[in-house]
Amino acid sequence: MLHSTVERERFVPALAHSWLTPLYDLAVALPTRERVFKREMVNQIEAAVAELGEPRILDVACGSGTLALRLKARLPSAHVVGLDGDSAILRSARSKARRRQAEIHWVHGLSHSLPFPDHSFDAVVSSLFFHHLSPAGKRQAATEMSRVVRPGGTLLLADFDRPRNVWMNAAFLLAQMIDGFTNTADHRAGRIPGMLSDVGWKQIEIRRDWNTWLGTLTLLAARKDSPLVDRRTLHGCGGDLADTAREPETMGDTPR
Ligand SMILES: C[S@@+](CC[C@H](N)C(=O)[O-])C[C@H]1O[C@@H](n2cnc3c(N)ncnc32)[C@H](O)[C@@H]1O
Repeated sequence: MLHSTVERERFVPALAHSWLTPLYDLAVALPTRERVFKREMVNQIEAAVAELGEPRILDVACGSGTLALRLKARLPSAHVVGLDGDSAILRSARSKARRRQAEIHWVHGLSHSLPFPDHSFDAVVSSLFFHHLSPAGKRQAATEMSRVVRPGGTLLLADFDRPRNVWMNAAFLLAQMIDGFTNTADHRAGRIPGMLSDVGWKQIEIRRDWNTWLGTLTLLAARKDSPLVDRRTLHGCGGDLADTAREPETMGDTPR
C-alpha cells in the first residue's frame, strides 16, 4: 500500500522501506535482544505504576505493538495506548491484539505532535525509536512526551547509546549504516540523557544496558517533576482518553 505524502514526510518506516515492514517482527527479535529488553521495560513500568489501580500508559512509535501487548498482558487493568505514524504497521498491531483479545487503543499520530491533552498518562514508553529521529525530532518528541505525562509520571526509553566496548563500536557502525549517520550521532556520543534534561525531564538515569548485534542498547528512565499535583485530580479533569484524542488522527479500537 502507498503511504500518504504526510506519512512519507514525517515518519521513517520501521525497516527503512515500507515493503519491508511485514518482516519487522522477524528482523528485530534477535539482533536487538527484544525479548530481554522489553521484559525489563515491562518489569520497570509495573514497578512504577504499582500504586495505581488503572494506570494509563502510552507507547510512542509502538510499531507492531509488541511492547504494548506485553504491557497489557502484565497489567490487565491498565489503559494501554499504542501510537505510531505508520498506518500499515498499526494494522498489524491491531490484528495481533485482536488475536490475543487484548484491549488496546491504537492511535495513528506523530511524535512531534501527540494527539492527547496535557497530563493524560502515568507513564510513557518508547523503544527502538529515537535513533530514527533527527536531533530536532528527538527534542520535539521528548518535549511532547513530557507534556502528555502527568507530573510525577515516568518515561522509559530503550534505544542505542554510546558503544561500551570495541565490539559494540563495530556493531553500532552497522546500525548507523542502516539507519543513517546524522540521526544516530547523538546516540553514539551518549547525548540522549542530556537532551532529556534540556527539555525538562528530571531524575534521568540509565537503568540497564545490553550488548546487542547492533550496538549497546540502554534503558533510560526519567521522571516528570512536580510532586504537588494529585493524579486523581488530573484524571478527573482530563476525562477519558477516548473523548479527548484528536479525532482526525485516530484510528483506535473502541475505547472503554
Ligand atoms: C524501529 S520501529 C520500533 C517499533 C517498536 N517501538 C519496537 O520496539 O519494536 C520504529 C517505529 O517508529 C515509527 N515512527 C517513525 N517516525 C515516527 C514519528 N515521527 N511518529 C510516530 N511514529 C514514528 C515507525 O512507523 C516504526 O513503527
